Amino acid sequence: MSTTEGPSDPWVLRTAHTVYAVTLGGDGEGDGPGAGVWPELSVWGPAGAEHGPSPLDWSRRTHFVTPADLAPAEYIPHGLRPFNGADLIAGRPGQERGVFWRFVEAHQEADTALDLTFDDDVLGLRVTVRYAVVADTDVIRRWSELTCTGSEALRLERIDSAAINVPVSAGGARLTHLTGQWSQEFQFTQTRLTRGTLEFGSTQGVPGHAYAPWLAVQDAADPERGESSTYGIALEWAGNWHMAVDAEPGGAVRVRAGRVPHEGAVLLSPGETLRTPRLACAFSPDGLDGLSRVWHRYERRLAGTRLHRPRPVLYNSWEATAFDVRADHQLALARRAAAMGVELFVVDDGWFTGRHDDTGGLGDWHPDPALFPQGFDGFVDQVRALGLDFGLWVEPEAVSPGSALHTAHPDWVYRLPDRTGRRVRNQLLLDLGRVDVQDFVLATLDRLLDRYAVSYLKWDMNRPPTERGRPGPAPAEGLDLDAAHVAGYLRVLDHLRARHPHVTVEGCAGGGGRIDHTTLARTDVVWPSDNTAPLDRLAIQYGYLHAHAPHTMSSWVTDAPGLFDPRPRSLDFRFVNAMSGVLGIGADIGTWDEAQRAQATEWIARYKDVRDVVHHGDTHLLGSPQDPTCAVQSVAVDGSRVVVGALSTGRLDGAPLVPGRPDRLRLQGLDPLARYRDEADGTEYGGAHLRHVGLPLRWSAAHDAELVVLRRV
Ligand code: DGJ
Repeated sequence: MSTTEGPSDPWVLRTAHTVYAVTLGGDGEGDGPGAGVWPELSVWGPAGAEHGPSPLDWSRRTHFVTPADLAPAEYIPHGLRPFNGADLIAGRPGQERGVFWRFVEAHQEADTALDLTFDDDVLGLRVTVRYAVVADTDVIRRWSELTCTGSEALRLERIDSAAINVPVSAGGARLTHLTGQWSQEFQFTQTRLTRGTLEFGSTQGVPGHAYAPWLAVQDAADPERGESSTYGIALEWAGNWHMAVDAEPGGAVRVRAGRVPHEGAVLLSPGETLRTPRLACAFSPDGLDGLSRVWHRYERRLAGTRLHRPRPVLYNSWEATAFDVRADHQLALARRAAAMGVELFVVDDGWFTGRHDDTGGLGDWHPDPALFPQGFDGFVDQVRALGLDFGLWVEPEAVSPGSALHTAHPDWVYRLPDRTGRRVRNQLLLDLGRVDVQDFVLATLDRLLDRYAVSYLKWDMNRPPTERGRPGPAPAEGLDLDAAHVAGYLRVLDHLRARHPHVTVEGCAGGGGRIDHTTLARTDVVWPSDNTAPLDRLAIQYGYLHAHAPHTMSSWVTDAPGLFDPRPRSLDFRFVNAMSGVLGIGADIGTWDEAQRAQATEWIARYKDVRDVVHHGDTHLLGSPQDPTCAVQSVAVDGSRVVVGALSTGRLDGAPLVPGRPDRLRLQGLDPLARYRDEADGTEYGGAHLRHVGLPLRWSAAHDAELVVLRRV
């Protein structure tokens, strides 16, 4: 570890393939040593990019604004930066806001961690700007720690985690982000920003359906795919958040990102330290596709040793039965599922007392004896006797008015004094920031998991906090309810991991409402959307896989018609589409004929044969849902097998553009000099052929999906 006490050469951090260099910038203003300084980005890019002048260096001559307003600051407070967007706004309650700090010291650990500390002695605030390289990845985590060093509390109005700076040419930046709504999450969206601010986020107490806490920034003059410097950020926070992208006049964009206090500000008491969420920062020289692989590798690391637990092929009865859960009907579905090769049977919503529809039951987590006449144990045993693991749906933060839980603990729900709590989906939300509520949830889950042979838990959440108050003596602003809820949520997930390590956990929030790295680090899979219609799902998964890894992406084959794109697709299409993630079946298989079941049996067997390559290999996203052919290509870690899940989106209307000539998919990541054999029909291709000529796909109206598995010979 090295310590310095003043401006120095850049501090250099190194990831597996990239370099990130930070220096101290300043305006020479202010009194006292080191006044008017801030951390500045020198360079971020592929290893070697540090040799040469910083692309962000500039004259420091300004008119009407201060140098601090235009500097590529890594973290800078309001006060020091008066005009152009600060990352931190702090002050004493009821007084002027503004931080004017001095640089105190730097601590660097090899080239993998860096802390830069700044003090404002007048205000009584210490700020440490922190960096940590994530080993074996091209990701650096950044965050800030704020300590109240004075004798009076501080009011923190903006508490961003970090800012990132990207140099761009005159045409501005191309921003890629993932937008949507319920049932249409993760839509791949691009915006060109030349001047001004683009801001997005969520105040729904979860990352939300409207925007993923994820962004990719490129120079608009560079290509989107292929060789192109691509910068990515992802905020690791399961509560309220925002990202603001400022396109500045001088050839740079600056992104501020962080959590958003629901109550408008957080109070920091003397001696207290607030740690902001981590902002994961990723770089790829290979465009958006390369960036996705950086994120996939990172998420595999987040999974730790659990990455190697095979994700079971599940059947979930929700789309088949909804709330009409009955043991005999569920068992009939389980028998059919087992015969097709399914490995896990999950009973979704509707299994507990009072849950006949969405108006009741939440909070009273006891199997309804009327639905399971031979007892719930008996039912679970019968499912397991079919060779299936058993899984259960829960919504631990939810409570129905009229439930025994709500009657016993009306004070456990969020509410404002003298106001009626609004219902969303007929339910209320427990204040999971309360320790007694957390303890209730832990005890409930322990009871269910200890009592029944459950090896899979789907944690759902179907309503955001609306009237978010906690009745009691503390003033609302003194309560950091958003952070408390997040902490409670993570505590329960951590407990599940520690106490029930054999249980696979699925994260869900009315579809993909709560997907961020803190969730992904503590769950095994997540449910990206309630929309399972084939072409809609393709668009959702295409966006999802830009940000998240295939082993996290739960995907079901169902009977659903399109909500947004109603063109029909085959059962094969639905399978190939779902097989680019973690395959599940959610269709009403009770209505499937023998031919459909045989088709499904074959697909499930093929999936089991390739899932290791799909979940652990390198993913290439080929084409897009807007193209006639779209595919997910996975290359095994040792390069020995290549799996291509190719789909015809129907843009050709079922016929090739030139009759008789197949469409071609140019593969990536192959050895051009190697030969690859199609495992199904023995056709041999050169790597260069597959890369530059392409894999032929002969689509027709009846044939809209293919799984091609190539083996390197
Ligand atoms: C919303 C989830 O996203 C669905 O998969 C299902 O579990 C329902 N909730 C059940 O109420």
